[in-house]
Amino acid sequence: GDIPKYVAPLRIPPAMPAVATGPERDEYVIAVRQFRQQILPRPWPRTTVWGYGSTAHAGSFGCPAPTIMARVGRPVRVTWVNQLVDDRGDHLPHLLPVDPTVHWANPAGGVDHRDGHGRPDGSRLGYRGPVPQVVHLHGAHSAQESDGHAEAWYLPAARDVPPDFALAGGAYAEFRSRFAERYDLRWAAGSATFEYDNDQRSCTLWYHDHTLGLTRENVYAGPAGFYLLGGDDLPDGVLPGPAPARDDPADTAYHDIPLMIQDRSFTADGDLFYPGGYSPHPDGPVWVPGFSGSTMVVNGRTWPTLTVQRRRYRFRLLNGCNSRFLLLSVAANATARPARPVLPVWQIGSDGGLLPEPVPHERVALGPAQRVDAIVDFTDVPAGTELYLVNEGPDGMYGGGRPGVDFAPADPRTTGQVLRFVVTDATGGDPSVPPEQLRLPSHPRLGAAERVRRLSLNERRSGESTIMLLGVLDERGRGLPLRWSDPPTEQPTLGDTEVWEVRNFTRHVHPVHLHQVQFELLGRGHSGGVRPDPGDRGWMDTVLAYPWEVTRIKARFDRPGRYAWHCHLLEHEDNEMMRPLNVLPRGA
Ligand code: C2O
Ligand code: CU
Repeated sequence: GDIPKYVAPLRIPPAMPAVATGPERDEYVIAVRQFRQQILPRPWPRTTVWGYGSTAHAGSFGCPAPTIMARVGRPVRVTWVNQLVDDRGDHLPHLLPVDPTVHWANPAGGVDHRDGHGRPDGSRLGYRGPVPQVVHLHGAHSAQESDGHAEAWYLPAARDVPPDFALAGGAYAEFRSRFAERYDLRWAAGSATFEYDNDQRSCTLWYHDHTLGLTRENVYAGPAGFYLLGGDDLPDGVLPGPAPARDDPADTAYHDIPLMIQDRSFTADGDLFYPGGYSPHPDGPVWVPGFSGSTMVVNGRTWPTLTVQRRRYRFRLLNGCNSRFLLLSVAANATARPARPVLPVWQIGSDGGLLPEPVPHERVALGPAQRVDAIVDFTDVPAGTELYLVNEGPDGMYGGGRPGVDFAPADPRTTGQVLRFVVTDATGGDPSVPPEQLRLPSHPRLGAAERVRRLSLNERRSGESTIMLLGVLDERGRGLPLRWSDPPTEQPTLGDTEVWEVRNFTRHVHPVHLHQVQFELLGRGHSGGVRPDPGDRGWMDTVLAYPWEVTRIKARFDRPGRYAWHCHLLEHEDNEMMRPLNVLPRGA
């Protein structure tokens, strides 16, 4: 309540500086570092965070990171560097409490790095060793070695980390040494070089940490950024633009703006707060089944203001929260929630590219990791008007349904508000096509499926907590939950198209994400036969699976190797709600 809103302007992440742009590809060297950023308005102190930036430009580090601007058909090579080290070159411990008991990237190879002393309040800090990192480009059609597999993490090149620290044992030892050889993955030397082919449709991707059992805390600490893949959709000028480009003059007026929306809580000192001390046991665990922050942060600032001209804007909306669902609309009042928002949000695209046609929404539902490519038209709004992007999703777990009827919407005084728009007069013309007249390019649908897979989302007791598990169906149609380390069951044959029928046996909505593919949603409802809403008729990589429903998707698996599918509620993903997705060569 006492953090003032709409003090700071919205930060628009600049384009990521490349180290080389040759004839073949763009090359980047991107590190994750610890630094301080003014997330809360002054006079609050700056917050210690982690974030990505180009090693060639010390000033480029931020949360979110600079945006990687890529083109369809032109590969991007990134050397990702883990620089979570202090000025002496020793490893930095995690900013947040780490639970070493969940399934996780175990850099110590069995060595116990827990802090045995605890803090004065009796809580435990957990693991204090070097922090593993691995970057996943979410939504990308990546080769397995560049996918940022949760087991393919690397430690910082720190003075106090022995070179062979992480190479001991584990179910993935063979996998990791093979990856290390082929892809320059040096666990102790602190980096990995991944290549992104960009052989998919133009769309809004994002990159974030994906370390096994540590993603929720790593991402919460900051490492995330946009990756805008452009080039094949519509002629320039049809959609509102521009977005920041490399070598742009800094004072360009941008009309294509990514908005990374995240909830965060802070301590009285302005540091990030993440719960970690709830366990009755002296040694943890500290895992919590969900997280709901007390503030809304857009592009790394709490409740910012965006001054807009009387024209159209393209917003790449991303739900970057750990486990909060958003229900967004444009309202005339920050706190009142009239039945009809003042301006529609025109959805033109989903995770994997443009929709078949623009869809006007009164409210946009956005689960963690999902993107909505949207146009908001301020042309007819009088200059001087203030509008608000508001959120009517719940504070806490989401079971579906309508705000105010099936669940209490977010607190209108805090997490129910996101961003303020201040409308000013337009300075130039707006060549973009009004959304209601926009014709979007058609794209081919997937062909017939080779097989149908029946899968389940399940809830089970595990020790002191209830955890969520992916699984299959048994012969009697009941959910058979499986853990990350259980033998792989989802193993499509290379080149095959499959229908996945995911039956949700839990009370919660889970955003189900598949690596490698963009898929089609075929149906929902009790039998999976209900036609998707218009906004769900494009390509997606993350789909909301509603309680007790069957979510039917179709995907074509055309790259061999080890991938994953998982719930994108990061707390679920980090505690077993993830399964291998292995694409096997034909004839294997
Ligand atoms: Cu955005 Cu497997 O993750
Ligand atoms: Cu989940």
